[in-house]
Amino acid sequence: MVAPLRVGIAGLGTVGAEVVRLIESRASALASRCGRPVRVIAVTARTKAKKRSLDLRGIAWAKDPHQLAENPDVDCLVELIGGAGEPALSAIETALKAGKSVVTANKALIAKHGLRLAKAAEAHGATLNFEAAVGAAIPIVKTLREGLAGTSINRVYGILNGTCNYILTRMEKEGLSFDECLKDAQRLGYAEADPSFDVDGHDTAQKLAILSSLAFGTKVAENAIYVEGISSITPEDLRAASDLGYRVKLLGVAVRTAKGIEQRVHPTMVPKSSSIAQVMDVTNAVTVDGEGIPPMTLVGPGAGGAATASAVVADIADVARGVRVSPFGRPVEQLRATEKAPMERHEGGYYIRLMARDFPGTAAAIATRLAEQKISLESIVQRHPNGVDLARSGGKASQVPVILITYATHEDEVYRALKAVQRDKVISGRPQVIRIEKN
Ligand SMILES: NC(=O)c1ccc[n+]([C@@H]2O[C@H](COP(=O)([O-])OP(=O)(O)OC[C@H]3O[C@@H](n4cnc5c(N)ncnc54)[C@H](OP(=O)(O)O)[C@@H]3O)[C@@H](O)[C@H]2O)c1
Repeated sequence: MVAPLRVGIAGLGTVGAEVVRLIESRASALASRCGRPVRVIAVTARTKAKKRSLDLRGIAWAKDPHQLAENPDVDCLVELIGGAGEPALSAIETALKAGKSVVTANKALIAKHGLRLAKAAEAHGATLNFEAAVGAAIPIVKTLREGLAGTSINRVYGILNGTCNYILTRMEKEGLSFDECLKDAQRLGYAEADPSFDVDGHDTAQKLAILSSLAFGTKVAENAIYVEGISSITPEDLRAASDLGYRVKLLGVAVRTAKGIEQRVHPTMVPKSSSIAQVMDVTNAVTVDGEGIPPMTLVGPGAGGAATASAVVADIADVARGVRVSPFGRPVEQLRATEKAPMERHEGGYYIRLMARDFPGTAAAIATRLAEQKISLESIVQRHPNGVDLARSGGKASQVPVILITYATHEDEVYRALKAVQRDKVISGRPQVIRIEKN
Protein backbone atom coordinates (compact mmCIF):
# COMPACT_ATOMS: atom_id res chain seq x y z
CA MET A 1 0.00 0.00 0.00
CA VAL A 2 1.37 3.43 -0.98
CA ALA A 3 1.70 5.87 1.94
CA PRO A 4 -1.25 8.27 2.27
CA LEU A 5 -0.90 11.99 1.55
CA ARG A 6 -1.15 13.60 4.99
CA VAL A 7 -3.00 16.89 4.82
CA GLY A 8 -3.09 19.74 7.34
CA ILE A 9 -5.88 22.27 6.95
CA ALA A 10 -5.62 25.84 8.27
CA GLY A 11 -9.06 27.46 8.33
CA LEU A 12 -12.35 25.61 8.92
CA GLY A 13 -14.81 28.23 7.72
CA THR A 14 -17.09 28.13 4.66
CA VAL A 15 -14.47 26.46 2.46
CA GLY A 16 -12.28 24.63 4.99
CA ALA A 17 -15.18 22.74 6.57
CA GLU A 18 -16.36 21.59 3.12
CA VAL A 19 -12.86 20.43 2.22
CA VAL A 20 -12.72 18.26 5.37
CA ARG A 21 -16.15 16.80 4.49
CA LEU A 22 -15.29 16.22 0.83
CA ILE A 23 -12.02 14.43 1.57
CA GLU A 24 -13.90 12.19 4.02
CA SER A 25 -16.88 11.48 1.75
CA ARG A 26 -14.75 10.93 -1.38
CA ALA A 27 -12.04 8.95 0.40
CA SER A 28 -12.25 5.82 -1.70
CA ALA A 29 -12.68 7.63 -5.06
CA LEU A 30 -9.73 9.88 -4.22
CA ALA A 31 -7.55 6.92 -3.25
CA SER A 32 -8.38 5.22 -6.51
CA ARG A 33 -7.82 8.37 -8.63
CA CYS A 34 -4.59 9.32 -6.89
CA GLY A 35 -3.16 5.85 -6.35
CA ARG A 36 -2.89 6.54 -2.62
CA PRO A 37 -5.22 7.61 0.19
CA VAL A 38 -5.64 11.27 1.13
CA ARG A 39 -6.02 11.87 4.86
CA VAL A 40 -6.64 14.98 6.92
CA ILE A 41 -4.37 14.47 9.91
CA ALA A 42 -4.34 17.93 11.51
CA VAL A 43 -6.34 21.17 11.41
CA THR A 44 -6.39 24.61 12.94
CA ALA A 45 -8.66 27.65 13.07
CA ARG A 46 -8.91 30.79 15.17
CA THR A 47 -11.22 29.41 17.87
CA LYS A 48 -10.86 25.77 18.85
CA ALA A 49 -14.03 25.81 20.97
CA LYS A 50 -16.28 26.93 18.08
CA LYS A 51 -19.13 24.52 17.21
CA ARG A 52 -18.49 23.32 13.66
CA SER A 53 -20.75 20.35 12.85
CA LEU A 54 -17.62 18.54 11.69
CA ASP A 55 -16.36 15.23 12.95
CA LEU A 56 -12.77 16.06 13.92
CA ARG A 57 -12.20 12.94 16.02
CA GLY A 58 -8.81 11.42 15.28
CA ILE A 59 -7.58 14.69 13.74
CA ALA A 60 -4.92 16.66 15.65
CA TRP A 61 -5.53 20.32 16.49
CA ALA A 62 -2.54 22.63 15.86
CA LYS A 63 -2.28 25.68 18.07
CA ASP A 64 -1.81 27.97 15.05
CA PRO A 65 -1.18 27.84 11.26
CA HIS A 66 2.56 28.12 11.82
CA GLN A 67 2.65 25.05 14.01
CA LEU A 68 0.60 23.20 11.41
CA ALA A 69 3.06 24.21 8.67
CA GLU A 70 5.98 22.97 10.76
CA ASN A 71 4.36 19.66 11.73
CA PRO A 72 6.69 16.99 10.27
CA ASP A 73 3.71 14.64 9.79
CA VAL A 74 2.00 17.06 7.39
CA ASP A 75 2.93 16.55 3.71
CA CYS A 76 0.54 19.14 2.32
CA LEU A 77 -0.61 22.38 3.94
CA VAL A 78 -4.03 23.62 2.83
CA GLU A 79 -4.46 27.32 3.61
CA LEU A 80 -8.11 28.42 3.84
CA ILE A 81 -7.84 31.36 6.21
CA GLY A 82 -7.77 34.19 3.68
CA GLY A 83 -6.19 37.64 3.67
CA ALA A 84 -3.15 38.97 1.86
CA GLY A 85 -0.99 38.98 4.99
CA GLU A 86 -0.50 37.07 8.21
CA PRO A 87 -0.88 34.38 9.35
CA ALA A 88 -1.52 32.90 5.88
CA LEU A 89 1.64 34.28 4.27
CA SER A 90 4.21 33.01 6.74
CA ALA A 91 2.43 29.68 7.24
CA ILE A 92 2.62 29.02 3.50
CA GLU A 93 6.20 30.21 3.29
CA THR A 94 7.22 27.98 6.21
CA ALA A 95 5.59 24.95 4.59
CA LEU A 96 7.17 25.60 1.18
CA LYS A 97 10.62 26.14 2.69
CA ALA A 98 10.26 22.76 4.41
CA GLY A 99 9.56 21.25 0.95
CA LYS A 100 5.88 20.66 1.74
CA SER A 101 3.21 21.15 -0.90
CA VAL A 102 0.70 23.94 -0.42
CA VAL A 103 -2.85 24.34 -1.68
CA THR A 104 -4.67 27.64 -1.19
CA ALA A 105 -7.86 29.39 -2.33
CA ASN A 106 -6.49 32.78 -1.33
CA LYS A 107 -6.63 35.14 -4.36
CA ALA A 108 -5.61 38.19 -2.31
CA LEU A 109 -2.42 36.49 -1.17
CA ILE A 110 -1.57 35.05 -4.59
CA ALA A 111 -2.23 38.40 -6.30
CA LYS A 112 0.06 40.18 -3.84
CA HIS A 113 2.73 37.61 -2.94
CA GLY A 114 2.26 34.93 -5.61
CA LEU A 115 5.70 35.45 -7.18
CA ARG A 116 7.52 35.36 -3.85
CA LEU A 117 5.69 32.16 -2.91
CA ALA A 118 6.23 30.60 -6.35
CA LYS A 119 9.96 31.33 -6.01
CA ALA A 120 10.01 29.62 -2.60
CA ALA A 121 8.16 26.63 -4.08
CA GLU A 122 10.65 26.35 -6.95
CA ALA A 123 13.66 26.71 -4.67
CA HIS A 124 12.47 23.90 -2.41
CA GLY A 125 10.97 21.55 -4.99
CA ALA A 126 7.50 22.08 -3.56
CA THR A 127 4.10 22.40 -5.23
CA LEU A 128 1.95 25.52 -4.91
CA ASN A 129 -1.59 25.12 -6.25
CA PHE A 130 -4.32 27.77 -6.19
CA GLU A 131 -7.09 26.64 -8.55
CA ALA A 132 -9.88 27.87 -6.24
CA ALA A 133 -8.44 31.39 -6.04
CA VAL A 134 -10.07 32.32 -9.37
CA GLY A 135 -13.61 31.32 -10.31
CA ALA A 136 -13.87 28.80 -7.42
CA ALA A 137 -15.09 25.57 -9.09
CA ILE A 138 -14.19 26.64 -12.65
CA PRO A 139 -10.90 24.90 -13.52
CA ILE A 140 -9.47 27.95 -15.28
CA VAL A 141 -6.04 27.94 -13.61
CA LYS A 142 -5.34 24.41 -14.80
CA THR A 143 -6.83 25.19 -18.21
CA LEU A 144 -4.46 28.12 -18.77
CA ARG A 145 -1.44 26.60 -17.06
CA GLU A 146 -1.64 23.07 -18.46
CA GLY A 147 -4.56 22.49 -20.85
CA LEU A 148 -3.53 25.35 -23.15
CA ALA A 149 0.25 25.07 -22.74
CA GLY A 150 0.52 24.52 -26.49
CA THR A 151 -1.64 27.48 -27.45
CA SER A 152 -0.70 31.12 -27.86
CA ILE A 153 -3.39 33.07 -26.04
CA ASN A 154 -4.57 36.39 -27.46
CA ARG A 155 -7.16 37.34 -24.90
CA VAL A 156 -8.69 36.09 -21.69
CA TYR A 157 -11.69 37.79 -20.18
CA GLY A 158 -14.35 36.96 -17.69
CA ILE A 159 -17.06 37.64 -15.19
CA LEU A 160 -15.04 37.05 -12.04
CA ASN A 161 -17.22 38.62 -9.36
CA GLY A 162 -20.62 37.11 -8.56
CA THR A 163 -21.80 40.13 -6.56
CA CYS A 164 -21.42 42.49 -9.52
CA ASN A 165 -23.01 40.06 -11.94
CA TYR A 166 -25.95 39.57 -9.57
CA ILE A 167 -26.47 43.34 -9.28
CA LEU A 168 -26.25 43.92 -13.05
CA THR A 169 -28.61 41.00 -13.72
CA ARG A 170 -31.27 42.36 -11.33
CA MET A 171 -30.86 45.89 -12.67
CA GLU A 172 -31.39 44.65 -16.22
CA LYS A 173 -34.28 42.26 -15.49
CA GLU A 174 -36.20 44.49 -13.11
CA GLY A 175 -35.19 48.01 -14.13
CA LEU A 176 -33.95 48.72 -10.58
CA SER A 177 -31.21 51.15 -9.60
CA PHE A 178 -27.71 50.11 -8.59
CA ASP A 179 -28.38 51.11 -4.95
CA GLU A 180 -31.60 49.10 -4.73
CA CYS A 181 -29.92 45.97 -6.11
CA LEU A 182 -26.89 46.39 -3.88
CA LYS A 183 -29.13 46.55 -0.80
CA ASP A 184 -30.86 43.33 -1.89
CA ALA A 185 -27.53 41.65 -2.54
CA GLN A 186 -26.43 42.58 0.99
CA ARG A 187 -29.68 41.28 2.47
CA LEU A 188 -29.22 37.95 0.64
CA GLY A 189 -25.59 37.63 1.70
CA TYR A 190 -24.18 38.11 -1.84
CA ALA A 191 -22.52 41.41 -0.93
CA GLU A 192 -20.43 42.44 2.06
CA ALA A 193 -21.49 45.21 4.47
CA ASP A 194 -18.67 47.21 2.84
CA PRO A 195 -19.20 46.27 -0.79
CA SER A 196 -16.53 48.53 -2.29
CA PHE A 197 -13.94 45.79 -2.83
CA ASP A 198 -16.43 43.96 -5.07
CA VAL A 199 -18.40 46.74 -6.77
CA ASP A 200 -15.37 48.96 -7.39
CA GLY A 201 -13.74 46.12 -9.33
CA HIS A 202 -10.79 45.29 -7.04
CA ASP A 203 -11.81 41.66 -6.41
CA THR A 204 -12.02 41.15 -10.19
CA ALA A 205 -8.63 42.84 -10.61
CA GLN A 206 -6.90 40.45 -8.18
CA LYS A 207 -8.28 37.47 -10.09
CA LEU A 208 -7.43 39.00 -13.47
CA ALA A 209 -3.84 39.60 -12.32
CA ILE A 210 -3.51 35.85 -11.70
CA LEU A 211 -5.18 34.82 -14.99
CA SER A 212 -3.10 37.26 -16.97
CA SER A 213 0.14 35.85 -15.62
CA LEU A 214 -0.94 32.30 -16.43
CA ALA A 215 -2.14 33.24 -19.93
CA PHE A 216 0.72 35.50 -21.04
CA GLY A 217 3.74 34.54 -18.94
CA THR A 218 3.87 37.94 -17.25
CA LYS A 219 4.52 38.77 -13.61
CA VAL A 220 1.41 38.99 -11.45
CA ALA A 221 0.89 42.74 -11.12
CA GLU A 222 -2.42 43.98 -9.76
CA ASN A 223 -1.17 47.57 -10.00
CA ALA A 224 -0.79 47.17 -13.77
CA ILE A 225 -4.55 46.86 -14.12
CA TYR A 226 -6.88 49.72 -14.99
CA VAL A 227 -9.88 49.37 -12.66
CA GLU A 228 -13.37 50.88 -12.83
CA GLY A 229 -16.45 49.63 -10.93
CA ILE A 230 -20.15 49.37 -11.75
CA SER A 231 -21.72 52.02 -9.50
CA SER A 232 -22.21 54.54 -12.35
CA ILE A 233 -24.30 52.12 -14.43
CA THR A 234 -27.99 53.03 -14.62
CA PRO A 235 -31.07 51.03 -15.63
CA GLU A 236 -31.31 53.39 -18.63
CA ASP A 237 -27.90 52.17 -19.84
CA LEU A 238 -28.96 48.55 -19.50
CA ARG A 239 -32.21 49.20 -21.37
CA ALA A 240 -30.43 51.07 -24.16
CA ALA A 241 -27.77 48.34 -24.34
CA SER A 242 -30.48 45.71 -24.62
CA ASP A 243 -32.32 47.61 -27.39
CA LEU A 244 -29.05 47.76 -29.33
CA GLY A 245 -28.33 44.04 -28.88
CA TYR A 246 -25.90 44.27 -25.97
CA ARG A 247 -25.71 43.43 -22.28
CA VAL A 248 -23.50 45.11 -19.67
CA LYS A 249 -21.14 42.96 -17.57
CA LEU A 250 -18.27 43.78 -15.25
CA LEU A 251 -15.40 42.12 -17.13
CA GLY A 252 -11.78 41.57 -16.31
CA VAL A 253 -9.98 41.61 -19.67
CA ALA A 254 -6.34 40.83 -20.45
CA VAL A 255 -5.43 41.14 -24.10
CA ARG A 256 -2.26 40.97 -26.15
CA THR A 257 -1.78 44.22 -28.11
CA ALA A 258 1.05 45.66 -30.18
CA LYS A 259 1.98 47.74 -27.12
CA GLY A 260 2.03 44.83 -24.65
CA ILE A 261 -0.53 43.13 -22.44
CA GLU A 262 -3.49 45.41 -21.72
CA GLN A 263 -5.21 44.51 -18.45
CA ARG A 264 -8.43 46.22 -17.46
CA VAL A 265 -11.53 45.83 -15.32
CA HIS A 266 -14.61 47.88 -16.17
CA PRO A 267 -18.28 47.64 -17.06
CA THR A 268 -18.35 46.31 -20.60
CA MET A 269 -21.00 45.99 -23.29
CA VAL A 270 -20.93 42.52 -24.82
CA PRO A 271 -23.10 41.30 -27.72
CA LYS A 272 -26.20 39.55 -26.38
CA SER A 273 -25.40 36.61 -28.64
CA SER A 274 -22.00 35.98 -26.97
CA SER A 275 -21.50 33.14 -24.49
CA ILE A 276 -20.40 35.54 -21.75
CA ALA A 277 -23.63 37.55 -22.11
CA GLN A 278 -25.68 34.47 -21.15
CA VAL A 279 -24.02 34.31 -17.72
CA MET A 280 -26.46 35.69 -15.17
CA ASP A 281 -26.82 36.16 -11.42
CA VAL A 282 -23.87 35.08 -9.24
CA THR A 283 -22.40 32.73 -11.85
CA ASN A 284 -18.84 33.33 -13.09
CA ALA A 285 -17.36 32.66 -16.53
CA VAL A 286 -14.05 32.98 -18.32
CA THR A 287 -13.54 33.12 -22.08
CA VAL A 288 -10.17 32.23 -23.59
CA ASP A 289 -9.33 33.35 -27.06
CA GLY A 290 -6.38 31.38 -28.41
CA GLU A 291 -4.47 31.17 -31.68
CA GLY A 292 -6.16 28.69 -34.01
CA ILE A 293 -9.07 27.85 -31.72
CA PRO A 294 -12.43 29.59 -31.50
CA PRO A 295 -13.09 31.31 -28.15
CA MET A 296 -13.90 28.88 -25.33
CA THR A 297 -16.00 29.82 -22.33
CA LEU A 298 -15.96 28.03 -18.99
CA VAL A 299 -19.00 28.79 -16.84
CA GLY A 300 -19.66 27.86 -13.23
CA PRO A 301 -20.11 28.85 -9.61
CA GLY A 302 -17.49 31.40 -8.58
CA ALA A 303 -18.11 31.03 -4.84
CA GLY A 304 -19.68 28.83 -2.17
CA GLY A 305 -18.20 26.31 0.21
CA ALA A 306 -18.90 23.15 -1.78
CA ALA A 307 -17.97 24.66 -5.16
CA THR A 308 -14.69 26.06 -3.85
CA ALA A 309 -13.88 22.83 -1.99
CA SER A 310 -14.24 20.93 -5.27
CA ALA A 311 -11.30 22.90 -6.74
CA VAL A 312 -9.26 22.70 -3.52
CA VAL A 313 -9.62 18.93 -3.39
CA ALA A 314 -8.67 18.64 -7.09
CA ASP A 315 -5.46 20.54 -6.24
CA ILE A 316 -4.82 18.21 -3.30
CA ALA A 317 -5.35 15.23 -5.64
CA ASP A 318 -2.62 16.58 -7.94
CA VAL A 319 -0.28 16.77 -4.97
CA ALA A 320 -1.17 13.18 -4.01
CA ARG A 321 -0.38 12.05 -7.57
CA GLY A 322 2.96 13.81 -7.47
CA VAL A 323 2.08 16.29 -10.22
CA ARG A 324 4.28 19.37 -9.89
CA VAL A 325 4.05 22.28 -12.33
CA SER A 326 5.54 25.79 -12.00
CA PRO A 327 2.82 27.68 -10.10
CA PHE A 328 2.42 30.24 -12.93
CA GLY A 329 3.20 27.75 -15.70
CA ARG A 330 6.79 28.96 -16.19
CA PRO A 331 9.73 29.47 -13.83
CA VAL A 332 9.34 32.79 -12.02
CA GLU A 333 12.54 34.24 -13.51
CA GLN A 334 11.11 33.74 -17.01
CA LEU A 335 7.94 35.72 -16.28
CA ARG A 336 8.07 39.12 -18.02
CA ALA A 337 7.34 42.43 -16.35
CA THR A 338 4.16 44.16 -17.47
CA GLU A 339 3.22 47.81 -17.35
CA LYS A 340 -0.11 49.49 -16.84
CA ALA A 341 -1.75 49.97 -20.22
CA PRO A 342 -2.47 53.61 -21.02
CA MET A 343 -6.25 53.55 -21.36
CA GLU A 344 -6.22 56.71 -23.47
CA ARG A 345 -4.74 54.52 -26.24
CA HIS A 346 -7.28 51.74 -25.69
CA GLU A 347 -8.88 50.90 -29.01
CA GLY A 348 -12.41 49.62 -29.28
CA GLY A 349 -16.04 50.50 -29.79
CA TYR A 350 -17.81 52.77 -27.33
CA TYR A 351 -21.35 53.27 -26.08
CA ILE A 352 -21.97 56.91 -25.22
CA ARG A 353 -25.14 58.22 -23.54
CA LEU A 354 -25.62 61.97 -23.55
CA MET A 355 -28.43 64.13 -22.21
CA ALA A 356 -28.83 66.41 -25.20
CA ARG A 357 -30.74 69.68 -25.11
CA ASP A 358 -33.79 69.39 -27.31
CA PHE A 359 -32.82 72.17 -29.75
CA PRO A 360 -32.77 71.87 -33.50
CA GLY A 361 -29.20 71.15 -34.61
CA THR A 362 -28.06 69.40 -31.42
CA ALA A 363 -27.56 66.01 -33.06
CA ALA A 364 -25.65 67.66 -35.92
CA ALA A 365 -23.39 69.49 -33.44
CA ILE A 366 -22.58 66.23 -31.66
CA ALA A 367 -21.93 64.40 -34.93
CA THR A 368 -19.58 67.21 -36.07
CA ARG A 369 -17.45 66.99 -32.92
CA LEU A 370 -17.16 63.23 -33.29
CA ALA A 371 -16.25 63.57 -36.97
CA GLU A 372 -13.49 66.05 -36.06
CA GLN A 373 -11.88 63.21 -34.08
CA LYS A 374 -12.46 60.82 -37.00
CA ILE A 375 -14.91 58.77 -34.95
CA SER A 376 -17.37 56.79 -37.08
CA LEU A 377 -20.75 55.92 -35.70
CA GLU A 378 -22.31 52.50 -35.95
CA SER A 379 -25.58 53.93 -34.65
CA ILE A 380 -27.10 57.03 -33.16
CA VAL A 381 -30.44 56.87 -31.37
CA GLN A 382 -32.32 59.86 -30.04
CA ARG A 383 -34.71 58.45 -27.50
CA HIS A 384 -38.04 59.87 -26.51
CA PRO A 385 -38.96 57.00 -24.24
CA ASN A 386 -42.19 56.87 -22.27
CA GLY A 387 -41.76 58.41 -18.91
CA VAL A 388 -39.18 60.98 -19.99
CA ASP A 389 -40.67 64.41 -19.48
CA LEU A 390 -40.11 66.31 -22.67
CA ALA A 391 -42.15 69.32 -21.67
CA ARG A 392 -40.27 72.58 -21.63
CA SER A 393 -40.10 74.10 -18.18
CA GLY A 394 -38.98 77.48 -16.90
CA GLY A 395 -38.00 78.60 -20.38
CA LYS A 396 -35.30 75.88 -20.50
CA ALA A 397 -35.13 73.37 -23.26
CA SER A 398 -35.98 69.80 -22.24
CA GLN A 399 -33.44 67.00 -22.49
CA VAL A 400 -33.40 63.98 -24.71
CA PRO A 401 -31.15 60.98 -24.17
CA VAL A 402 -28.95 60.40 -27.20
CA ILE A 403 -27.22 57.02 -27.48
CA LEU A 404 -24.21 56.64 -29.72
CA ILE A 405 -22.35 53.46 -30.64
CA THR A 406 -18.98 54.07 -32.24
CA TYR A 407 -16.86 51.86 -34.43
CA ALA A 408 -13.38 51.08 -33.10
CA THR A 409 -11.59 54.24 -32.05
CA HIS A 410 -9.14 55.41 -29.41
CA GLU A 411 -10.33 56.42 -25.97
CA ASP A 412 -8.58 59.80 -25.98
CA GLU A 413 -10.38 60.68 -29.22
CA VAL A 414 -13.73 59.87 -27.59
CA TYR A 415 -13.01 62.07 -24.59
CA ARG A 416 -11.66 64.94 -26.77
CA ALA A 417 -14.88 64.86 -28.78
CA LEU A 418 -17.03 64.79 -25.64
CA LYS A 419 -15.15 67.73 -24.14
CA ALA A 420 -15.87 69.73 -27.28
CA VAL A 421 -19.54 68.72 -27.13
CA GLN A 422 -19.67 69.92 -23.51
CA ARG A 423 -18.06 73.22 -24.49
CA ASP A 424 -20.75 73.65 -27.16
CA LYS A 425 -23.32 73.47 -24.33
CA VAL A 426 -25.56 71.14 -26.32
CA ILE A 427 -25.63 68.55 -23.54
CA SER A 428 -26.08 68.66 -19.81
CA GLY A 429 -24.49 66.51 -17.11
CA ARG A 430 -21.66 64.03 -17.57
CA PRO A 431 -21.71 61.75 -20.58
CA GLN A 432 -21.86 58.05 -19.78
CA VAL A 433 -19.21 56.03 -21.62
CA ILE A 434 -19.07 52.22 -21.66
CA ARG A 435 -16.46 50.24 -23.58
CA ILE A 436 -17.63 47.52 -25.96
CA GLU A 437 -15.92 44.13 -26.16
CA LYS A 438 -16.65 42.20 -29.35
CA ASN A 439 -16.39 38.43 -29.39
N1 LIG B 1 -16.20 31.42 0.52
C1 LIG B 1 -16.07 31.33 -0.80
O1 LIG B 1 -17.05 31.20 -1.54
C2 LIG B 1 -14.70 31.39 -1.43
C3 LIG B 1 -14.57 31.23 -2.82
C4 LIG B 1 -13.31 31.23 -3.39
C5 LIG B 1 -12.20 31.44 -2.59
N2 LIG B 1 -12.36 31.62 -1.25
C6 LIG B 1 -11.17 31.84 -0.44
O2 LIG B 1 -11.05 30.79 0.51
C7 LIG B 1 -10.44 31.28 1.69
C8 LIG B 1 -11.33 30.96 2.90
O3 LIG B 1 -12.57 31.60 2.73
P1 LIG B 1 -13.84 31.25 3.65
O4 LIG B 1 -15.02 31.86 2.98
O5 LIG B 1 -13.87 29.81 3.99
O6 LIG B 1 -13.50 32.12 4.96
P2 LIG B 1 -14.20 32.01 6.40
O7 LIG B 1 -15.50 31.33 6.32
O8 LIG B 1 -14.15 33.38 6.97
O9 LIG B 1 -13.20 31.06 7.23
C9 LIG B 1 -11.94 31.50 7.63
C10 LIG B 1 -11.36 30.44 8.55
O10 LIG B 1 -10.07 30.87 8.91
C11 LIG B 1 -9.92 30.80 10.34
N3 LIG B 1 -9.01 31.84 10.79
C12 LIG B 1 -9.17 33.19 10.68
N4 LIG B 1 -8.11 33.81 11.23
C13 LIG B 1 -7.29 32.85 11.68
C14 LIG B 1 -6.04 32.85 12.35
N5 LIG B 1 -5.44 33.99 12.67
N6 LIG B 1 -5.49 31.66 12.63
C15 LIG B 1 -6.09 30.51 12.32
N7 LIG B 1 -7.26 30.43 11.68
C16 LIG B 1 -7.85 31.60 11.38
C17 LIG B 1 -11.32 31.00 10.90
O11 LIG B 1 -11.37 30.43 12.18
P3 LIG B 1 -12.73 30.35 13.06
O12 LIG B 1 -13.62 29.39 12.33
O13 LIG B 1 -12.30 29.84 14.37
O14 LIG B 1 -13.28 31.73 13.09
C18 LIG B 1 -12.16 30.25 9.85
O15 LIG B 1 -12.23 28.89 10.17
C19 LIG B 1 -10.21 32.78 1.45
O16 LIG B 1 -8.91 32.99 0.97
C20 LIG B 1 -11.21 33.12 0.37
O17 LIG B 1 -10.83 34.22 -0.43
C21 LIG B 1 -13.57 31.59 -0.65
